[in-house]
Amino acid sequence: MDLFENEVDGGVHEQAIGAGAVVLRGFAAADAARLVAAVEAVIARAPLRHMLTPGGQRMSVAMSNCGALGWISDRRGYRYDAVDPLSGRHWPALPALCTSLAARAARQAGYAGFAPDACLVNRYEPGTRLSLHQDRNERDFDAPIVSVSLGIAAVFLFGGTERADRPLRVPLRHGDVVVWGGPARLRYHGVLPLAAAQHPLTGGYRYNLTLRKAG
Ligand code: SIN
Ligand code: FE2
Repeated sequence: MDLFENEVDGGVHEQAIGAGAVVLRGFAAADAARLVAAVEAVIARAPLRHMLTPGGQRMSVAMSNCGALGWISDRRGYRYDAVDPLSGRHWPALPALCTSLAARAARQAGYAGFAPDACLVNRYEPGTRLSLHQDRNERDFDAPIVSVSLGIAAVFLFGGTERADRPLRVPLRHGDVVVWGGPARLRYHGVLPLAAAQHPLTGGYRYNLTLRKAG
């Protein structure tokens, strides 16, 4: 992985993980405390929950959303909806800080003009994992995915465009941002089971914000 490392303006450490995909080390660090506070405000209104897969399995990651659209899963399938099925109300608005951070990260990665309308909030605790999947419920795949890591560390799996492709193992720490789009937009990805740790801002949890242009 150190093959592709690059130091850019402002000291952000950039690590290419394939064509169209980059890890921006510490890109969100300066905003992290405000991001965690924004996440807490979102989940106070739209509580974290363990969604069911279409096959009926309870997902180990606890999820919520903010933005005009939220990603949901249940027996009927995976999709986006403007309404939180738990409350029957719209998802909380996308915090301006999230929108601007995602646009800046996308621009840094070569995707100018990113305007997300959906943010999936994932909460991991030790032992939680996310199996390999593609993000493909968005209306089109023109816009990149911007993923912000907060709290305890995780190992991100970044696979190929086929499920069987052997994934890279990318350690993600508090404040790291991953952007993938263009030729990488449909690459499989997931998260290994988390190890127990403590972080001053999030306690024993990892939060991940995944910003998308879904509609
Ligand atoms: C996701 O694919 O939705 C989340 C990835 C992560 O938690 O890093
Ligand atoms: Fe994903």
